[in-house]
Amino acid sequence: MLIDNHNRVINYVRLAVTDRCNLRCNYCMPERGIKFAQRNDLLTTKELQRLSDVLIDLGVDKIRLTGGEPFVRSDIRELLEHLGAHDALKELSVTTNATLIGPYLKQLKAMGLTSVNISLDAIRPETFARITRRDSFAIVRENLMKLLEEDLTVRINFVVLEGQNIDDIYPMMEFQEKYPVQVRFLEEMPFNGGSRNFKKLHWNHKQILEHIRLRYPEFEKQPAPLTSTSVNYKIEGHAGGFGVIPSFSRTFCGSCNRLRVTATGDLVTCLYGKPVANVRELIRRESDTDQLAGLIRQAVGSRAKDGFEAQERFGPVFGSSMTSIGG
Ligand code: GTP
Ligand code: 5AD
Ligand code: SF4
Repeated sequence: MLIDNHNRVINYVRLAVTDRCNLRCNYCMPERGIKFAQRNDLLTTKELQRLSDVLIDLGVDKIRLTGGEPFVRSDIRELLEHLGAHDALKELSVTTNATLIGPYLKQLKAMGLTSVNISLDAIRPETFARITRRDSFAIVRENLMKLLEEDLTVRINFVVLEGQNIDDIYPMMEFQEKYPVQVRFLEEMPFNGGSRNFKKLHWNHKQILEHIRLRYPEFEKQPAPLTSTSVNYKIEGHAGGFGVIPSFSRTFCGSCNRLRVTATGDLVTCLYGKPVANVRELIRRESDTDQLAGLIRQAVGSRAKDGFEAQERFGPVFGSSMTSIGG
């Protein structure tokens, strides 16, 4: 088992498989993109498979593939199939913008996926185009509707952006009324790769909830594991549910069970922290498993208690992009 220096069990790994993305969400990166990693610094599928095997041996039972956009990798199927075959993995999930999942839709369940989180901050085409700077709403909507027919948990991550998508919140609520999907409203975070000036948070989790309450006065809090990032609610008679993720307020650090691996093999033990080690060299040298496991244990053994502590220790990481951190 992986236990950190604050006695928290680390059983959840967020594995970024690429820092590339085919969208340009303005809260994530500038129109021109960011300085993407060198292609040969990205972990290959074989390397990701080896790393995952070691992590699973260490007790990790939940893996989420993130990015960038995981499905821009043409070899993503191979990795999913490898992970899906691991009995010890209780949850295998992916966070995706859903533009490219069409060819995989029918096989996701068979490949072993338990859920799919879709990053979708709009329900109207114009809002989508303004935020993502791309005209892909129709295909995302089509894929989302098809995904809802599969036997998988589907969640939508909706980052609440002042002046951009506030008018899409109620239509998004109507969507969860009709369809079995969990819509989670996220606080914006200052990880936009210099795309814009993040001076302050306009919509914190309390304000988001109050806004929803104006239209939907009655909702019930749902039980959730202590490690959950979202606080979830349900409205009687609605097919889906909704939730709020206080990502910027970080109310969940005390029970944080996550380790992040970037697409280039950096180990990141807090979203607000800098990388603490890199596994790429060890994997490429085909070092023995004990060495790799040792490096991971060492990283997990020196975690910050919460994000603010990490900032003081490493300096602010604001200004980097979520696409290089992996969300
Ligand atoms: P589930 O497993 O479905 O509950 O998803 P998740 O919330 O772990 O993953 P997802 O990729 O959907 O992430 C949603 C958002 O949660 C991220 O973009 C962050 O805003 C927030 N989040 C996830 N992990 C952390 C964390 O360790 N710290 C902070 N501050 N926010 C986090
Ligand atoms: N603030 C909040 N959430 C962000 N994401 C990407 N950039 C940001 C940001 N600056 C979200 C994506 C995805 C999740 C992993 O992170 O929408 O759903
Ligand atoms: Fe791509 Fe996700 Fe960043 Fe949007 S938020 S540009 S979908 S990585």
